[in-house]
This record gives sequence, structure tokens and C-alpha cells, in this order.
Amino acid sequence: MKVTLEDIKQKPMPKHIAVIMDGNGRWAKSRGLLRTAGHRMGVQALKNLVLALDELDIHYVTVYAFSTENWKRPADEVNTLMELIVEFLDKELDYMHEKGVRIHPIGDISRLTGKTYDKIVAAQEKTKDNTNIILNVALNYGGRQEIVRAAKNICADVQSGRLAMDDIDEALFGSYLYTAGQPDPDLLIRPSGELRVSNFLLWQIAYTEFWCTNILWPDFGKEHLWQAIWEYQNRDRRYGGLTK
Ligand code: IPE
Ligand code: IPE
Ligand code: MG
Repeated sequence: MKVTLEDIKQKPMPKHIAVIMDGNGRWAKSRGLLRTAGHRMGVQALKNLVLALDELDIHYVTVYAFSTENWKRPADEVNTLMELIVEFLDKELDYMHEKGVRIHPIGDISRLTGKTYDKIVAAQEKTKDNTNIILNVALNYGGRQEIVRAAKNICADVQSGRLAMDDIDEALFGSYLYTAGQPDPDLLIRPSGELRVSNFLLWQIAYTEFWCTNILWPDFGKEHLWQAIWEYQNRDRRYGGLTK
């Protein structure tokens, strides 16, 4: 069945979608191109995703752009990825801002190259009051790193007397994560045929619905997004309980 915009508009939308933007390298390889060409097309697919979300009533999206493990890749690939971020912001920031997109980096961005870091911080500052789409961009992000960081910050606040140990509960813990104040993702999309989480949003995906596809990220378009949303809308989320 080919899902249309009208189909998905009949039922409640997911509030927050997370996407592991994977498969750029294989997309390029299958065309005899350099991996970096795949990353460049991947950036285009990200822009298309934001445009597709703008047509829907979905205000939170988290995209995995660079993991804490991606430093294992050859230096020139890492450098290209950092440059592509700069290129994307140079080219698209004004447009994203017009569309009401708030660019919110998550992860330890202090380790990124100076230029990339500066551009991201500037983009974050420029778009900080936008509310149409909160675009969390995971950069040097690892789910375990995020949880350890939260635990350390909580400890520091207990030590300084700002928090009592009895204040620590799931909600408090969540408020120390990069995604503080945001709803957990309802739907996690992983293209490229991999069936794993790769250290993405480990805390936040406790009850997230997964949608995996063999489509490679550069080929991912709005029709795939609609398909994912439609399947999500037709699932039974029980949260450990029973069907209503
Ligand atoms: C995802 O595509 C982009 C990043 C991890 C930065 P890949 O580069 O992982 O593409 P494949 O998995 O090799 O095809
Ligand atoms: C996950 O993809 C990270 C990003 C898409 C940024 P990877 O390609 O790094 O994941 P693995 O290595 O296949 O698990
Ligand atoms: Mg990959």
C-alpha cells in the first residue's frame, strides 16, 4: 500500500521522531563514488526530512549525525563530515531559521573542530527562540556518554547541596540529559538494513517504536517517512499493560 499524506493525517502523529542517518557509505559504494559523496547526499536527505516534517504536526526530531564511535574512521572521512556540517549551515541556516527550526546540538560538541564548533554554536544561538521544529543534531553523541554525564552532574549537585539524594527519580534524571524538557521519541527510524541501536538515545528509547528499512539514508524521502508514520500509527503501544 502506498501511504499518502491524507492517510497519516487521520490519526495522531508521533510527537518526536528519531532517525539514525545510516547507509551513506554504501549508497556511494554502490555507485562507484567516494564515501564522502554519500555523506553529501545524506545532508540533502536531512534537509528533505525537515521539509517533510514541516508539512506535519511534528515538532521534535533527533538525528544521529556523528557518534562517539565514529572517530574510529579515517581522519579524512571525519574531516569531510565536519566540513559538511559547516557547508550545510552556511547554505541552509537562513532557510531553516525561516521555517522556524531550532538547531539544538546534543553530544559533546567541544571535541569538534574549531570551525565546526563555532558554526554550530552560532546556529544554536540564532535559532534558539524557534519552536516549529526542534532539530536535535547528535554530534559526538553517545547514549552511554550522555548517561554518565548526567550521573556526574547529579552527583555534583548532590555534593554541593543543591539536590538531595531522595530527589533523584526518573524524571529528575531525564532533566539532566541533553533532551531535557522534550518528549521521548515515539518512533525511531533506522535505514540501511541494520538492526541495532548503535549507542543512540539509550535512556530515551525505553518505549520507542522501531521502524527499520533497507533504504539507504541518501535515498530516504518523504514517502518513506509517511510509510514509517503510518505503520507506527497502526501499532499497539502497550507500555507493559494490556490492549485497551
Ligand atoms: C552514516 O553513514 C553517516 C555516519 C555514520 C556519519 P555511514 O557512513 O555509516 O554509511 P555506511 O554504514 O558505511 O553505509
Ligand atoms: C550510526 O551509524 C551513527 C550515525 C549514523 C551517525 P554507524 O554506521 O556508525 O553504526 P554501526 O557502526 O553500523 O553500528
Ligand atoms: Mg553506517
